[in-house]
Amino acid sequence: MRAIKHMGRLAACAVTAAALTVAAAPAPASAAEAVSHPDYEFSFDGIFGTFDQAALQRGFQVYEQVCAACHGIRLVAFRNLADLGYDEDEIKAIAARYQVEDGPNDQGEMFMREGIPADRFPSPYRNEQEARMMNGGAYPPDLSLMAKKRKGGADYIKALMVGYTEPPADVELTPGMYWNEYFPGHQIAMPQILYPDSVSYADGTPATIEQMSRDVATFLMWTAEPMLEDRKQMGIKVILFLLVFTGLMYAVKRKVWADLH
Ligand code: HEC
Repeated sequence: MRAIKHMGRLAACAVTAAALTVAAAPAPASAAEAVSHPDYEFSFDGIFGTFDQAALQRGFQVYEQVCAACHGIRLVAFRNLADLGYDEDEIKAIAARYQVEDGPNDQGEMFMREGIPADRFPSPYRNEQEARMMNGGAYPPDLSLMAKKRKGGADYIKALMVGYTEPPADVELTPGMYWNEYFPGHQIAMPQILYPDSVSYADGTPATIEQMSRDVATFLMWTAEPMLEDRKQMGIKVILFLLVFTGLMYAVKRKVWADLH
């Protein structure tokens, strides 16, 4: 019994030592340097945060008119756009702007048809190889979950969009790469995409780089976590319940012990 305990402790020590070694190991030279980015304010921040529907619609417009050329959002279905405040007819019209692959038909062939609300957004490339071929070897990742995949989420996405600058004088860019203040390692294969008035907003908001970056980051937060508002509301309900419950338990405790003191 004792021996087993001893061995357990030894194993724990070994694991700790291994963890420390890994943590202390110098990063390989090629590892991208981590960079910090600003903490922006979004309507969905904080425990009472909600999505701003107007910003979501604008962000969708930026995604559709700019980012969709290279990035898919393959986990999002057209009908999900109801969350953004579009009605059924608008969603049908949006879906119909896309061609999606369907099939096989009676001849065993796949064919293209107009999108319907139940379809998901088709990706711009058929596969990763084609995507890389079209982007000089770099892979524009699917953006559906990007706001959850990257540390900083929407803040990081917004920072990345506004972070394009000239490289410092002592840096020579690798051909095909661009300098970005906030991309880990700074050299990114995606060129600056957003310029003033890259889109013409349906609601008339001036399309500055800052505005489009904020809106597209908001939209990508929604694609990554469409139930964010429900989650926050549930949290508030749980906390309210716990408060009431604590009060109730306290009252019960006083009642039960009243005669015993
Ligand atoms: C011309 C093609 C192109 C367009 C248009 C484009 N991107 Fe990219 N994007 C890329 C490529 C290529 C990469 C991969 C970069 C790399 O790994 O160096 C990338 C990477 C990204 C990443 C991941 C960065 C990371 O941390 O790995 C995000 C986020 C992103 N793009 C957002 C956007 C948004 C938002 C838009 C629209 C405003 C957009 N992109 C438009 C080509 C594009």
